[in-house]
Amino acid sequence: MNTRHDVPLAPYTTLGLGGPARAFREARTTQGLIEAVSAADEAKMPVLLLGGGSNLVIADEGFDGTVIRVATRGRQVVEAGDTARVLLCAGEPWDDFVAWSVAQGLAGVECLSGIPGCVGATPMQNVGAYGQEVSEVITGVRVWDRRERSQRTLHPRECAFGYRDSVFKREARGRYAVLSVAFALRRGGAPALRYGELQKALGEGAPTLAKVRETVLSLRRAKGMVYDPDDPEGRTAGSFFTNPLVAPETAGAVTAAARAKGALGEGESMPQWPTADGRVKLAAGWLIERAGVDKGWTVDGAGVSRRHALALVNRGGTTRSLLAMAERVRSRVREAFGVTLEIEPERVG
Ligand code: EPU
Repeated sequence: MNTRHDVPLAPYTTLGLGGPARAFREARTTQGLIEAVSAADEAKMPVLLLGGGSNLVIADEGFDGTVIRVATRGRQVVEAGDTARVLLCAGEPWDDFVAWSVAQGLAGVECLSGIPGCVGATPMQNVGAYGQEVSEVITGVRVWDRRERSQRTLHPRECAFGYRDSVFKREARGRYAVLSVAFALRRGGAPALRYGELQKALGEGAPTLAKVRETVLSLRRAKGMVYDPDDPEGRTAGSFFTNPLVAPETAGAVTAAARAKGALGEGESMPQWPTADGRVKLAAGWLIERAGVDKGWTVDGAGVSRRHALALVNRGGTTRSLLAMAERVRSRVREAFGVTLEIEPERVG
């Protein structure tokens, strides 16, 4: 595996931002991936594992360490009764897997259509959309444990999945390199129809997996959430903020504040969803819009998407200008509603 130096990282991210990596290697096999991580660890070099670059905000100064691009490929399928167990190498493109599953009549990931990035990154933030989350179908995550210098398989329980959350973002941050992920899909299973907007778009009847995929793709396209390198409005990292999880009283206070400032009309209700742990999920995109942020608002080449207030777009700026824009948006929402938005993509450098 050859090592390159001072490699600009912007072309490897969907935002198109980020300075150079001190060292850059590409791992095409699982063994090569383990060797690259181990070598960097032995040399005490910081490591950045790079998949699809769709959820990364890399500093303009770049990354002073080794970037290892995960380009491992491979899929194994074992069928048992109505269940198909699918093991995928970390570098497999996520949406290829979804398209394949749908074509095979395997249910479980159909609502996760059109999400950029690679399989190995999906457990990190428990990727979710349109009522489905990867944690529902993950049966194990094979990792290289950098602390113990050994391979192991993490049970879903050990992954501590939550809304856009897992052990990989918290206690075990940086400890594991994901090698492969195992999923259990249901042959002939019905698609998951839990998200109001998706149900509405599908209308009456029992849709096929293919119909659900097609519908999710068109909803995502309309929001600028299907990555297309030729679409200048698509230079985003998806949702830039997570939807805030708040206590019910806070949700009540936000509604009252919205009414008081005329951001919520008579007879109109604020989008909110109760969660299993008793908290309430608010819609960050709604809060941003109703805080008076205009879609398309741009400063120094960094702007709010014209299609979805929750996405920030690189319009020829820098990482610094993008993060400054994020701060502007956050303070608007904080001032209007007393809610602090958390940044969703991973920040590097
Ligand atoms: N809304 C607005 N203005 C906007 C955008 C949204 O008022 O500009 C309102 C909508 O009307 C709706 C609510 O906010 O009532 C929720 O909007 P939407 O259905 O578009 O979903 P979201 O909560 O903004 C989340 C995920 C997306 C995922 C969609 C669909 C997070 C941080 N984001 O967005 O995931 O595709 O739901 O399930 O949870 C991502 O993580 O990168 C991502 C794209």
